Amino acid sequence: MVLTNPRLPDNPIVYVNRAFQNLTGYTSDMALGRNCRFLQCDQTSEAKVADLRNAVAQGEEHSTVLLNARANGEQYLNALLIAPIHDDEGDLVYFVGLQSEVAQDHQAERLEQFETVMAEIQHRVKNHLSMILGLIRMKARRSDDPNEFKDLSRRVESLQLLYEEMSGATLERNDGKIKLGAYLGRVANAIAYLDSRPGVRMNIYVEPLMVDTETAVRIGLILSEVLTNAMQHAFREQKSGLVELRVSRTDNGGMRAIVSDDGVGIPEDVTWPNSESLGGRIVQGLCEGLQASLQVTRGAVGTIVMMDVPMAE
Ligand SMILES: Nc1ncnc2c1ncn2[C@@H]1O[C@H](COP(=O)(O)OP(=O)(O)OP(=O)(O)O)[C@@H](O)[C@H]1O
Ligand SMILES: [Mg+2]
Repeated sequence: MVLTNPRLPDNPIVYVNRAFQNLTGYTSDMALGRNCRFLQCDQTSEAKVADLRNAVAQGEEHSTVLLNARANGEQYLNALLIAPIHDDEGDLVYFVGLQSEVAQDHQAERLEQFETVMAEIQHRVKNHLSMILGLIRMKARRSDDPNEFKDLSRRVESLQLLYEEMSGATLERNDGKIKLGAYLGRVANAIAYLDSRPGVRMNIYVEPLMVDTETAVRIGLILSEVLTNAMQHAFREQKSGLVELRVSRTDNGGMRAIVSDDGVGIPEDVTWPNSESLGGRIVQGLCEGLQASLQVTRGAVGTIVMMDVPMAE
């Protein structure tokens, strides 16, 4: 995932996540400040690049599949999706780019077929992305805050992972369902890394469960807020601790997720989730949409958050 700043000359990259560095072989130091075009190679389709450039100039979202090159020169096929991020006054402040490497197929005919399926997935991901960007819009304004990228990227990261999960499943099956357990495991891992603290461990136990992507993206976002809170707030005064995520299938076909930490506990005078902060508002809004119930308890130590999501079988 990358964020670029179209208000600066030549729309430079201002943030790249860890997966970008793994995929491209460029470290963030090498990528920051440059326009994304450095990922192109001689064989990259000029027509596709022109369409992309046009969308950026118009401030529009766009998706495509094109050839890129890693730092070591190796080429890879990139299913790229870009979307504008506006502040709450409607001004364009960033572009987010989600990339997903897809297996190369040298038969032109199969490639065309593949691109049609991919376009469908990208379309769905774009809808989810608009929903997420709508939720976080209010925060995009404080653009000189160095923590802003971190908050923003953390919230978009769950979607990047969903996108990878969906594109990975493309050729195997196309029923719009994804492996929820595996996906949530990846979300949790990404958070453990992004907000990592020495001495704080995260254990993840997930049961296999297939759900539609709409439900998955919402659950992923909620859990990403809850897990981030545990990492950021529970261990302020402690050097070590444990965060645990358990996802299981309930008897009636629904899902139960439990996040527990053994930290300081939510302050006595705070009822969470509440609408005072963005995190709380996101969780409240999404739970409502899922008809999920959320139970927040103070344990003997720390906090336990339990979420039940009913699902049609
Ligand atoms: N696991 C936890 N342990 C201790 N305190 C917590 C925990 N989860 C939430 N809190 C408390 O609840 C408050 C509200 O959390 P919330 O996620 O709504 O907002 P935030 O994390 O402060 O900001 P953001 O909008 O970036 O998420 C936190 O500031 C913190 O004091
Ligand atoms: Mg929070």
